[in-house]
Amino acid sequence: KRVAVFVSGGGSNMLALANACAAPDFPAEIVAVISDKPSAGGIAKAKARGIRTFVFERKQFAGKAEHEAAILVALDEIKPDILCLAGYMRLFSGEFISRYEGRILNIHPALLPLFPGLHTHQRALDAGVKIAGCTVHFVTEGMDEGPIVAQAAVPVPADDTAETLAARVLTVEHKLYPLALKLLAEGRVRMEGDKAVFSNLPA
Ligand code: GRF
Repeated sequence: KRVAVFVSGGGSNMLALANACAAPDFPAEIVAVISDKPSAGGIAKAKARGIRTFVFERKQFAGKAEHEAAILVALDEIKPDILCLAGYMRLFSGEFISRYEGRILNIHPALLPLFPGLHTHQRALDAGVKIAGCTVHFVTEGMDEGPIVAQAAVPVPADDTAETLAARVLTVEHKLYPLALKLLAEGRVRMEGDKAVFSNLPA
C-alpha cells in the first residue's frame, strides 16, 4: 500500500513508520511526506531518506479551501492508498476527509477518549493519572474522535513531568503506529460507520 505521511514537527513518528516500511515483508511504503511547515524537521528527515516531500504553507493560500485543494491536487498525483497524520497540526475539512474516508490514521499522545486536543501530558499529570499512553485512530471530521485502531499504555511515576512523560509516550508511539498501519494496510481493520472493525487478527 502507498502511504503519504503528514507532519508539522520533528517527524519522529514519520521516521518510525519509514523504518517499519523498510522491512521487506511490511505491506506499505511511504511514497510522500507532506507538511504545512517548510522548516518541519520531518521534511528534512524525509529528504535525507530520499522520500518525496511536499510543503503547502498555509499563508501561501487565500483560505483553508484553497490550501486543501492544493494538497488534494498533489495527492491525486501521488495516489496514496493511506494517509498517516503524524504530528500534523491542522484539521482537515469533512470534504477533504470524505475523499479518503476510512483510509486516514492519526496518532494522538493520550488514551482517547481521555485528553483530546493539545497539552495532553500536562493535563494527564494534572488529573493525577497513573497510566497514560497513545492512540492510533481513524480520522473523522471531529478532532481526535475517530474510531480507535490501537492503543498503548505507559506507567506514570509520581515524579513525572510533562517532558519525561512525553518522552516515554513517544517511545511507545514509535512502536504502536507501525502496528496500526500494518493492520490497515493488510485489511485487518477497516472503518465501518463510527466503528473500527477487526478481522483475522493474529492469535
Ligand atoms: C507526537 O507526540 C504525536 O503523538 C503528536 O505530536 C507529536 C509528533 O511528534 N501528534 P513527531 O513530529 O512525530 O516527532
